[in-house]
Amino acid sequence: MEKTVKIGIVGVGNIGSVHLSTLAKNKVKGGVLSGACDIDAQKLKALKDAYPQLSLFEDYEDLLNSGIDAVIIATPHYLHPIIAERAIEKGIHVLIEKPFGVFTKGGEALCQRARDKGVVFGIMLNQRTNKLFSLAHELVKNGEIGKIRRHVWIITNWYRTQEYYESDSWRGSWQGEGGGVLLNQAPHNLDLWQWICGMPKSIYAICKNGKYHDISVEDEATIFAEYENGATGTFITTTGDKYGTNRLEISGERGSIVLEKGRLILQRDGQTPRTFRDKEYNGHLEIVQDFTNAILYKKELLAPASEGLKSLEISNCAYLSSYKNEKVDLPINEDEFLGFLDIMQKNEDPVSKNETDKPLSSTYQAKWNTNW
Ligand SMILES: NC(=O)c1ccc[n+]([C@@H]2O[C@H](COP(=O)([O-])OP(=O)(O)OC[C@H]3O[C@@H](n4cnc5c(N)ncnc54)[C@H](O)[C@@H]3O)[C@@H](O)[C@H]2O)c1
Repeated sequence: MEKTVKIGIVGVGNIGSVHLSTLAKNKVKGGVLSGACDIDAQKLKALKDAYPQLSLFEDYEDLLNSGIDAVIIATPHYLHPIIAERAIEKGIHVLIEKPFGVFTKGGEALCQRARDKGVVFGIMLNQRTNKLFSLAHELVKNGEIGKIRRHVWIITNWYRTQEYYESDSWRGSWQGEGGGVLLNQAPHNLDLWQWICGMPKSIYAICKNGKYHDISVEDEATIFAEYENGATGTFITTTGDKYGTNRLEISGERGSIVLEKGRLILQRDGQTPRTFRDKEYNGHLEIVQDFTNAILYKKELLAPASEGLKSLEISNCAYLSSYKNEKVDLPINEDEFLGFLDIMQKNEDPVSKNETDKPLSSTYQAKWNTNW
């Protein structure tokens, strides 16, 4: 009989319900939907109506004890490493949604614990499956444009309305979310940035809290990065631009790569420029499939959870740098970051469950794909 992985889901909100329906439709080869959990009784009731046979739980501990082999964690960010730790201790394979969490402290130990327990620990960095970004990663890795001199990523098409921030009470605050555009929308880009161009040695950033929305976290960020080899990088993002753009430009000693509007243009000394076009892809499905294959066939993950710690370290450094108005060296001082987070949480009004929380319109889901 074909081997299968029994997968449960914790958090069946916007994205958790996408993963649930992907599994329920048997789109993941070898993956079997085997349970779901949410603290929201209304969501559980809707699930009961749609999937009468599915085991449903209010407490994630009960789901983890229900005999599943693997779990997808799609709750608000703070809970990702907390629930992951519980699952890893029980020998359950884990796929967390991005970001890894809100801070890096304890993250490396958790990844090591997963290795020690022999469980697969992945993260939903679905844009790594975009063929243009993986091509850029390969081109740079293979030295096609030589040593990187400079790169600039303007990724301002993460537009979000005030309604979006009010749709769930955890959004837009240090207590509920632990960060803004750098932690919720741009982790995908920060991950690709470091995947393609490497980790910086230092960061200076300007993060503007509540510049375009009534929120206490940042909705605009500009990061200046310096690299060991003398290269520099700039990363600009916001949820405030209605007509934003997405352009990544990498300049190397022997050539350049430009990604924009679903095209990658490669120019190299002495060669005619080449253009590669984006292909249709379903990143979320591909990552769940990759995770399932890693469990079944012991394959290496495209997006191990440890990789998610890198983009988190960059955003944590950016917050610290902006707060102190000075350059911050990597590796980050994790305790200093926790001190910063504590101050930010204490300086805002308490976040309470907002009774007016309402689901977002279905068109919102389209925003999770790469947005050129
Ligand atoms: N990879 C992507 O493209 C992508 C897209 C959207 C969201 N996300 C990430 O997924 C996470 C969830 O985002 P969302 O937009 O789906 O949020 P959401 O608020 O719609 O869903 C979160 C769900 O978790 C549930 N929940 C909260 N605490 C829980 C607990 N203790 N136990 C069980 N369930 C609990 C909530 O009731 C809710 O149903 C976030 O971390 C976000 O960054 C990733």
